[in-house]
Amino acid sequence: MRAKAADMHGKDCVKVAVRVRPFNKRERDAGSRCIISMASSIITIQDPRSAQTRRSFCFDYAYWSHSGFTRDRSGLFLPEEEGGRYAGQASVFQDLGEGILHNALQGYNATLLAYGQTGSGKSYSMVGYGPNKGLVPTLCDRLFQAIKGNQDSRQCQVFFSMLEIYNEQVVDLLSRGSRALGGLRVREEQHRGFYVEGLRTVPCDSAQQVEQLMEQGTRSRTTAATHMNANSSRSHMLIILQLKQIFSKESITKQSNINLVDLAGSERQRASGLEADRLKEGTAINLSLTTLGNVISALADVAVGRKAVHIPYRVSVLTKLLQSALGGNSRTVMIATLSPADICYEESLSTLRYAERAKRIQNRAVVNESPTERLVKELKAENARLQHRLSRLGQEGRRADEETKEIRQLLTHNELQIRAIQTLWEQHLQEALKDWELQYASITQERRMMQMHPYILNINEDAQLSGVVKLFIPEGEWDIGLAESSPQSILIKGLGIQERHAAFRNEHRQVSLTPLAGSKVIVNGNPVSQTTELQHLDRLILGSNSTYLFIGYPSERGSDDWSRYDYDYFHSELAAAEGINLGETSAGSSQTDPSLLAVFYDYIKLMPMVAEANQMSQELNKGVIFKVEIKNLALSDSKGHDLEKEIVVRVTSLESKQVWVWSKAKFVNRKFLMEEIYQQHQGGEGLSMAAMPRDKDPFWDPLEPLLLGSAHLWLQSLAFRIPLEEQLEVLGSEGTEEAILQTQLVPCTSTGLPLGEEDILIDPSELLGRRLDFQLVLEQCCGLRWIKACRNRGVQISFRYFECSQPLYTPAVWHNVNPLLDHRFHFACLHSSQRLLDYLQNSALVLELWGLQEGCIELTTSMEGVKMTTEGIFIIDQSVAADTATVNLSSSMRALQEELEEVRSSNSSLKTENHSLREQLHTARNGAEGARGRSLRPSCDAEFARALKVFYHNMTSVRGQLQRLRRHMPSEESDQLGLRLFMDEQNRLLKDFSEQLELCVSALKQDVAAIVRRKRERSGIWS
Ligand SMILES: Nc1ncnc2c1ncn2[C@@H]1O[C@H](COP(=O)(O)OP(=O)(O)OP(=O)(O)O)[C@@H](O)[C@H]1O
Ligand SMILES: [Mg+2]
Repeated sequence: MRAKAADMHGKDCVKVAVRVRPFNKRERDAGSRCIISMASSIITIQDPRSAQTRRSFCFDYAYWSHSGFTRDRSGLFLPEEEGGRYAGQASVFQDLGEGILHNALQGYNATLLAYGQTGSGKSYSMVGYGPNKGLVPTLCDRLFQAIKGNQDSRQCQVFFSMLEIYNEQVVDLLSRGSRALGGLRVREEQHRGFYVEGLRTVPCDSAQQVEQLMEQGTRSRTTAATHMNANSSRSHMLIILQLKQIFSKESITKQSNINLVDLAGSERQRASGLEADRLKEGTAINLSLTTLGNVISALADVAVGRKAVHIPYRVSVLTKLLQSALGGNSRTVMIATLSPADICYEESLSTLRYAERAKRIQNRAVVNESPTERLVKELKAENARLQHRLSRLGQEGRRADEETKEIRQLLTHNELQIRAIQTLWEQHLQEALKDWELQYASITQERRMMQMHPYILNINEDAQLSGVVKLFIPEGEWDIGLAESSPQSILIKGLGIQERHAAFRNEHRQVSLTPLAGSKVIVNGNPVSQTTELQHLDRLILGSNSTYLFIGYPSERGSDDWSRYDYDYFHSELAAAEGINLGETSAGSSQTDPSLLAVFYDYIKLMPMVAEANQMSQELNKGVIFKVEIKNLALSDSKGHDLEKEIVVRVTSLESKQVWVWSKAKFVNRKFLMEEIYQQHQGGEGLSMAAMPRDKDPFWDPLEPLLLGSAHLWLQSLAFRIPLEEQLEVLGSEGTEEAILQTQLVPCTSTGLPLGEEDILIDPSELLGRRLDFQLVLEQCCGLRWIKACRNRGVQISFRYFECSQPLYTPAVWHNVNPLLDHRFHFACLHSSQRLLDYLQNSALVLELWGLQEGCIELTTSMEGVKMTTEGIFIIDQSVAADTATVNLSSSMRALQEELEEVRSSNSSLKTENHSLREQLHTARNGAEGARGRSLRPSCDAEFARALKVFYHNMTSVRGQLQRLRRHMPSEESDQLGLRLFMDEQNRLLKDFSEQLELCVSALKQDVAAIVRRKRERSGIWS
């Protein structure tokens, strides 16, 4: 019905289906919640951070493949119960595949696009895994069945092509020759539209043949991914099936193109979008995907009636090739795949929005007539005309030998042409079949080998490409590496693989592996340098990141399923060997902190990429090394208790020791550009590394000051106007001690004179509404690790105070491990507010230590938003003062009124009491004396407070001594004498320290005892 209605209007809307997959291991480990729900074809997504925020979308089809399934013995996923809600591959095919098949058989072009973030199930739906065959193989199966069933009415020809678009280059996945440099060209012809020049199209007449070709294509994708170090998730895979149906009786030919597109992972470069990377522009990371989005948006605008919208088809390769699928002559279906997990909320929502726009696109599909058939038709028509003329010539009996001869020649020529066109298919098919038989033989041979020998199996980041390459290890000794040094060589390519990388020895049905000089071999997460015996299912990493699973002799194999040893497994194991893991107890439990888990997965994602970047840097002579670091964000939190972590990559120049720190997003972006350069280099494009301009070089960046670490200076003492002297440890993001910073907080007068003991406050609220002046003194930095490592460097300190958004910086100091800073900041708060008091009592100044490198610009304070007096005093809490003053005023007015009422009522009762007291006084003997004594009674509280002040003050210097003691360490080069001197000094310091401490405590004891004594004496007098 729907198709008919569309036909009547001559428009076909793009049909959109959405599918949600089961949780994957990561999501299960993280204790993820499912945030997607479906009711009929309505999909609702729930914002995990806000229970009220839900968004619903309506699509043509919605597939629930998240739960309610079982797995049979062959590994096929089936609904748990008949009629259950689980949508398996069969039901997806029923709706989407059948439609495409039906359209193609009718002579329409048809397109199927799979869109979604990496790992969301695009390839699962399109191609499938194992017995869970996806749309493409099932479609081919059914297509050939249909062809067979219609044999009597038409002759059918099927051509198959498979290509990949990676970084805007078209790669023919079925090509037999070497890859064309820069990829194949996309051309445009008026009647054909855009097409790939020189793309191999293989005639096929069975589904097995197509399956075989797909396997070949996948293999070629896998080798490209490993050899050229390209990430398949960033590539688009296109399968083009051309179906030609020749109806001889009706003498019509229908031709349709079926495009099956497995798009690159759609993750939005969210983080890097916010991040300014100078090389962001001009990156073709996903030019095709971005343009596809733009084309879809523009077409959606057209559909709602906006006119004069430019559709940017020509901007990218993918959109050129999909021009007819989007807004043109094709019936198009999009399957948008979703992860069910809360951690993928942003991505899933963006996929749903994308799909919603795609739904609006209107195409105009028509039944196609083949241009080739038109030629035959035209030739036939011409022949008919010629025949007619010939017979007329005969009837007229005119002597026109010359003309008759010419006509006869033309007729024969045309006949030959017609026959040539018609036999072309047969010939091609025969050739393809021969090819196919060869391929088939090699596959049969591979299957036989698998049953005879141990082998290693490639494991790829993209599960679809795992297990594609099998390298056999028959009995004997085998070298594995780049070079084919002997017949006993196993050839592999990849980053960091040596000519002769390692040797396998297969003897007495036991395989061992020996790394050869200088090569990197990791077995089950641990680097090995000696001969190691391999066990079935051992994990091998050769070079930077060539991952293989060892499969032992068939007798060792049992019925195990190797699919759990995926790419993540390899790298979690590697991280665990380096001491980074989630711990036995926490991994897999729902108690694992999700932010910690995210960091862990970021770490295992970046680790292999960093290994690859290092190898590329080495091979391209870039002279930089990369290292993953876990940055603790608590260090820059002014309350110091937010324990989130983040992954960064530290880049160090080997020669100049210059250092850069890149965010994860920046590194991922750069790694892509590095791959591009590396591939050009591998492809021998003659790109000289020396000639590469710096501003295009992904390995290089202008130097910037680096945040080395930070220290917290707690401000609480200022609330009591107590001076503080601190020796702060500046800690780097990985917990290393970067320096010791000597600081002071000095409450002072408005002219900067330090306040005395008598100004210490018992209750900070006494400060409310009053002026508070204090100075922050940054005295000296000691033991700067940054400068110790390289003298050509400098440092600066920065911090932010109260509500000022601008950081303040000290002037730079250079080349000194223990530089004197001697920098003083004077702050004044003219009317202290409650907010300021809270800030002082609960927060710390986060003092950040910045590393400067030769050639980088020093950091300067921007005075915008900073308030300063002419004497150079920083004003704080000013804007708040006025507000708080009004608020305070009105609230105190209210309080005063209430008080007045109370005072009035108590006044009258006091009057009566007074009266009776006066009478008592009269009768008392020593009443007058007593009254004098009482008025002189000293307050015990005040005495205690004073004693405490003294104690607090004394303790400040004791703490300073303790810090000095902690910092006092023997020099690394000390000999025995040095150590002895150190010990003596240490003992002296300890003695001083304990004496000081004793003194403080005994002074406090004495004071307290004296106060208690005095109190007793006085109470004795008065009791
Ligand atoms: N509907 C499903 N049922 C069961 N497993 C699924 C389903 N969809 C996906 N998976 C599993 O999730 C994993 C990732 O799926 P898939 O390879 O299809 O992702 P993708 O979207 O193609 O990712 P990429 O962009 O990296 O190519 C695979 O191991 C696959 O088996
Ligand atoms: Mg995929």
